[in-house]
Amino acid sequence: AAEPVKIDIQADKPGPVIARQIYGQFAEHLGAGIYEGLWVGTDSKIPNVRGWRSDVVNALKAIKVPVLRWPGGCFADEYHWRDGIGPQAQRPPRVNTSWGGVIEPNSVGTHEFMDLAEQLGTEVYINANLGSGTVQEMAQWLEYLTAEGDTALARERRANGRDKPWKVHYWGIGNESWGCGGNMKPSYYADQYKQWATFAKAPRGNRPKLVASGGQELELHWTETLSAEVKQMSAITHHQYSLPTRDWKKKGAATAFPESEWISTLAVPQTIDGYLAKHREILDRNDPAKKFAIYFDEWGSWYDPEPGTDPGFLVQRNTLRDAVLAALHFHVFHRHAERVKMANIAQMVNVLQAVVLTDKERMVLTPTYHAFAMHLPFMDATSLPVQLSGVPTYALGKYSIPAVSASAAKGADGKLLLSLTNTNPNQDLPLQLAVGGKGVRAATGQLLTAATMDAENRFESPDRVRPQPFKAQAKDGALSLTLPAKSVLVLELQP
Ligand code: AHR
Repeated sequence: AAEPVKIDIQADKPGPVIARQIYGQFAEHLGAGIYEGLWVGTDSKIPNVRGWRSDVVNALKAIKVPVLRWPGGCFADEYHWRDGIGPQAQRPPRVNTSWGGVIEPNSVGTHEFMDLAEQLGTEVYINANLGSGTVQEMAQWLEYLTAEGDTALARERRANGRDKPWKVHYWGIGNESWGCGGNMKPSYYADQYKQWATFAKAPRGNRPKLVASGGQELELHWTETLSAEVKQMSAITHHQYSLPTRDWKKKGAATAFPESEWISTLAVPQTIDGYLAKHREILDRNDPAKKFAIYFDEWGSWYDPEPGTDPGFLVQRNTLRDAVLAALHFHVFHRHAERVKMANIAQMVNVLQAVVLTDKERMVLTPTYHAFAMHLPFMDATSLPVQLSGVPTYALGKYSIPAVSASAAKGADGKLLLSLTNTNPNQDLPLQLAVGGKGVRAATGQLLTAATMDAENRFESPDRVRPQPFKAQAKDGALSLTLPAKSVLVLELQP
């Protein structure tokens, strides 16, 4: 029999707290991400609360969405907030030039979004329009949201149905300013950002954290320039998507993919791990006081669009591969929890690596949803180092990754948590668990796996990929278990 992989949790060496915002979401005015997927309007036959569909909202409540980013993405830099307030019938239809050239009806605007956030009980992360808006427009939006006194904008908000100011937690200034947000150089953006941040004012006690738009992949110069030149910011964003082929023209299919695209996709988080280490080196040099966080506010798989759909809607199916990919991202974010204080999967519903898919009145929870649900105990947990020995390499073609990835933490309720993935789709792996070199008595938790790499939940078979209860008991003072091929396992340990 193969030698077991040894996993030893260093419970006496607590690391940083894993911000629950690492499990954040992103919802953009894109395809059926908002309209249809979440917003059906008050006249819909689909049960809804003030226009937001109840099935989807309830599913999202169950994964305790900690923070929600809106209205984009690229869309944020063409969004003018005044289009989305006041009587619905009078709101101007516009063209969504970023996504499919369809009509944006503006039925979902500030009041509707803030209502969704309240229904979900989530923090809000609003991305303001630096690309095609003005400083005045941004300043007035923030005032409209947060003004307490008897100002014209507060009166207007009240006339539109909201008396008390809202709490705005995070305020992004531009998105992907190196690309769809204005094709800027980092130094030009840094100057713009400083001007805009100066006028992003809100009453004391309700000032959002200001977020600067950073780079993507290994673009260290954005992190370098922003952290050297800007003071008025809480975080720099970073984006990276997982494309099986690394080729934007032909990214790879979401289902029925070859094993070579299973491994190439699952190799991305390892790359992110390396990039984050480099970003942290820069930040540690330019910001030793650790004032600036990294918000990884767009991540996830990006495949070729589902055949027959509008390519501008970024519709893709979601399989077991996506659940393993999500868990690997969580492990990376946990490992860098000292600086990574937020991450937002792209995107919440019906777009890219969605946690929920809808088709008219039907809804399905994706394997990625289950990965989020299984990791709920990691929100605000204290990370713990893990020592792994004897991990086999899983290799195919030009990719090789460790077959086992692990992340441990002490939950906010004191429980000892361990999250594991087996990236090898062909081989179960024996494991032996210890805490501080001592044996573990028992482990209980949930296992997510399936018969095939591309197993998925469809509207007509919604439960093909769902977590199953898992239990293991120590024998002769040692806890051994088998981590099935292509799986995610989250355990609570009894030391
Ligand atoms: O998530 C889809 C798009 O990807 C976002 O709008 C943009 O920021 C990124 O390029």
